[in-house]
Amino acid sequence: MRIAMIGTGYVGLVSGTCFADFGHHVTCVDKDQSKIDALLSGKMPIWEPGLDGLVAANVARGRLSFTTKLSDALNGAEAVFIAVGTPSRRGDGHADLSFVFAAVEELAKALDHPVVVVTKSTVPVGTGDKIAALLKEHKAPDGCSVASNPEFLREGAAIADFKHPDRILVGAEDERARQVLAEIYRPLFLNKAPLLFTGRRTAELTKYAANAFLAMKISFINEMADLCEAVDADVQDLARGIGLDNRIGAKFLHPGPGYGGSCFPKDTLALLRAAEEAGVEQRIVSTVVKVNDDRKKAMVERVAKALGGELAGKRIGVLGLTFKPNTDDMRDAPSIPLVTALVERGAEVVAYDPVGREQAEPLLPAIHYAETPERVAVDADALVVVTEWDEFRGLDLRELATKMRGNALIDLRNIYDRVDAERAGLRYFGIGRGRT
Ligand code: UDX
Repeated sequence: MRIAMIGTGYVGLVSGTCFADFGHHVTCVDKDQSKIDALLSGKMPIWEPGLDGLVAANVARGRLSFTTKLSDALNGAEAVFIAVGTPSRRGDGHADLSFVFAAVEELAKALDHPVVVVTKSTVPVGTGDKIAALLKEHKAPDGCSVASNPEFLREGAAIADFKHPDRILVGAEDERARQVLAEIYRPLFLNKAPLLFTGRRTAELTKYAANAFLAMKISFINEMADLCEAVDADVQDLARGIGLDNRIGAKFLHPGPGYGGSCFPKDTLALLRAAEEAGVEQRIVSTVVKVNDDRKKAMVERVAKALGGELAGKRIGVLGLTFKPNTDDMRDAPSIPLVTALVERGAEVVAYDPVGREQAEPLLPAIHYAETPERVAVDADALVVVTEWDEFRGLDLRELATKMRGNALIDLRNIYDRVDAERAGLRYFGIGRGRT
């Protein structure tokens, strides 16, 4: 099948490439000439493990191409996916749909045959109806359908998530849309990935509900971690104790400095705004948003407490800046409020991140950047683990301790063992692991 993918961000590029890998013919289109030029020369606009190889292989087989010209991408296409950004609208948290609507308008004018228009971008409930109306208004050929096919992939594991999804969700209102999407995903449900058909509005809302639920799980375990600290219990064991119950599930129960990234913060807010418009209270999700915001701001206190309350003049080594490992994405990363507050309170910060430095520097200009984790430890009063990159797990704590001038290890991701850290001569402060 011929597919056009509008938008070569995370979701567009990964989905387009994986569809090509299934054997479809995919043309990815983006307005950003420099991005398309980079892709044509084999450079990836995002840092995602395995993506460059998969793009190169499918380009070489003639199944994947890139262009800035929408009309080229539409040639013979049966499905057109919209995967442009839906950022938070400045000031109010609504999803900004201007990129989606601009793409639809342009699409309507460029089409010379009916297609199935599929939103992959995360869009508020009812957006599909607006897209259908826009297509009509701008005189798209008769017979176009509009479907919703939200994407659940995680950054850093995007290709595996796309190819082995827990489910594929398709919201459609007509048989043709269902058939075209079933055909596109056939290679996956041959592998038994459940293909779930719902109404279009339900699919749109389901994506927000999934992200809000996961955000809630994280906030829940973070609050349990605080309680564990107060009553001398261990949140790692508690998470295992509840997670082995199939009704609860073990995933997304890792306590930490609060969730960040391109989806949870933006989508929980957009869900709240949509619920407000519908006149329905969402007390749980609004509490989750507040709990998470407060948590990110509170992390600086943990560092201060470990250093006896005073941060001025202290040298703090920070390990990891991106919102999670295996990505260079800094969007809403917990490191931003933490490092900013450390600097504001007079600390000197030296940070190391395996791939995030380029994205971090403009956001955190007032700090030093080191080339290795060991350099971060030199003369540090405290080391703070903010992102759980694998390369931090095996660090020689003894060696780090000898380089430091202080001895506090604040492990915001619980990647070290207290006994090991103490044996290395460090004072260990984890999250929710007994009294600190
Ligand atoms: C998320 C959803 O998982 C994905 O389905 C959706 O399509 C996009 O949003 P992503 O933002 O890439 O994916 O990362 P994810 O791995 O879900 O982590 C999000 C944030 O939650 C990170 O800041 C992470 O550190 C945090 N997190 C996650 C925790 O603090 N604890 C956990 O147990 C899991």
